[in-house]
Amino acid sequence: MSKEKVKVVRRPFAGYERSHNVAEDAELTHVGPATPCGEFMRRIWQPVALSSELNGLPLAIRMLGEDLVLFRTRKGQPGLLARHCSHRGASLEYGLPTDEGIQCCYHGWHYAVDGTILETPNDPDSQIKDKLCHGAYPTHEYKGIIFAYMGPPDDVPAFAILDSYDQPDTDFVPFSLYFACNWLQVLDNTQDPTHSCFLHTRVSGTQFAESWGELPELDYVPTPYGMVNINVRRWKDRIWVRTTEMMLPNVNQAGAMWLTAEDDVTFIQTALTRWMRPIDDTHTQMIGWRYFNDRVDPDHKGVKEDVGLGKIDFIGQTEDERPYHERQQVPGDYEAIVSQRPIAVHALENFNRGDRGVAMMRKLIRTNIRAVGNGEPYSSYPRNAAGTVPTYTVDTVVTVPENGGDDRALMRSLGERISKITFDSSELPIEKREAYFAERLADLMENIPG
Ligand code: FES
Ligand SMILES: [Fe+2]
Repeated sequence: MSKEKVKVVRRPFAGYERSHNVAEDAELTHVGPATPCGEFMRRIWQPVALSSELNGLPLAIRMLGEDLVLFRTRKGQPGLLARHCSHRGASLEYGLPTDEGIQCCYHGWHYAVDGTILETPNDPDSQIKDKLCHGAYPTHEYKGIIFAYMGPPDDVPAFAILDSYDQPDTDFVPFSLYFACNWLQVLDNTQDPTHSCFLHTRVSGTQFAESWGELPELDYVPTPYGMVNINVRRWKDRIWVRTTEMMLPNVNQAGAMWLTAEDDVTFIQTALTRWMRPIDDTHTQMIGWRYFNDRVDPDHKGVKEDVGLGKIDFIGQTEDERPYHERQQVPGDYEAIVSQRPIAVHALENFNRGDRGVAMMRKLIRTNIRAVGNGEPYSSYPRNAAGTVPTYTVDTVVTVPENGGDDRALMRSLGERISKITFDSSELPIEKREAYFAERLADLMENIPG
């Protein structure tokens, strides 16, 4: 049903008059094989599992509505194959990993990681293995996560190395969290900064820091491959500028959850990189890394041991970390996101100015879905001169006491000018980027009226 046909309740005690059974926006939310959004998702390397999940046995997984099996050969190479055997369909999750691939349990057909049929031992002289291949996808293992490319085989993009991976003295701890809902609403949350004020502070109590409860000034800016929101908060004598990034089609980088804005900080990069991996239309796995270093977590509040398969070291990210009554009393991101329905129904939403980021992001995704659908080549993330993909997730806190003027205007102006420095620094390698940023910030602060 289109937005125009949705009935709107316009008077008290008139729930009877509201619309029921309104359809979701299939173009943006449906991800199965041959759907427009599924096709778009298949244009980048997507995470499919943590390396730690492959413990000797094959793993039955679903990705973009497709049943697959992930396994590791006895020589250590990951393989990702269509789950059902090309002979008569037995699941390869019951197969036997070999040096070169995996052997089906039923009649012994033996597959290489690229889908080549190596043997058909129930009919050794059969020519069938020379005539067909089993469905297979290339994989790439990086920092404890197994990625796969599931798009057109003649158009495999380079695996993107983000410049945030070059943060010094950082431990990257992989994690995987399950969400019982569509992928897009998990991503929507990342371009919805006002929820931090309410869900994480004013309504549910302070889940991170008191300063998160300040209503921000907000702006939204496109990047070469997505967008950022610029979130500017006044906290006592300081102004905190945070940019949070969305990379098409389903990636988010987010700043430190332990930052309080009680101290000045300069160019603190991301604390999280995560993909909202669509299992299918109504199930999602958030896979990514928590970054551990002294910059994103100066007081060492993070706990590495609490980060991994089905867990992360901050509140409100899974269904099973707390009992239901506690999740009702102190809901977190998981409760808010999953309760938007299995697939959030956009036609029933009523946006206000706080939702500009969500609106912009959906438009961006839709434009790219249509471009891919029209056969336009999808260009991978652009690299800078240093050979990495520049990212734009940065926290900066500066001391700027209120000066009796229009403080909200000052916040907006600082947000715009500080985030411009972030953008201007993007061509530099990470080790030079911070010094450049610090120098430009010092110049800027000299000219702020105090
Ligand atoms: S079903 Fe797999 S070898 Fe027969
Ligand atoms: Fe949140």
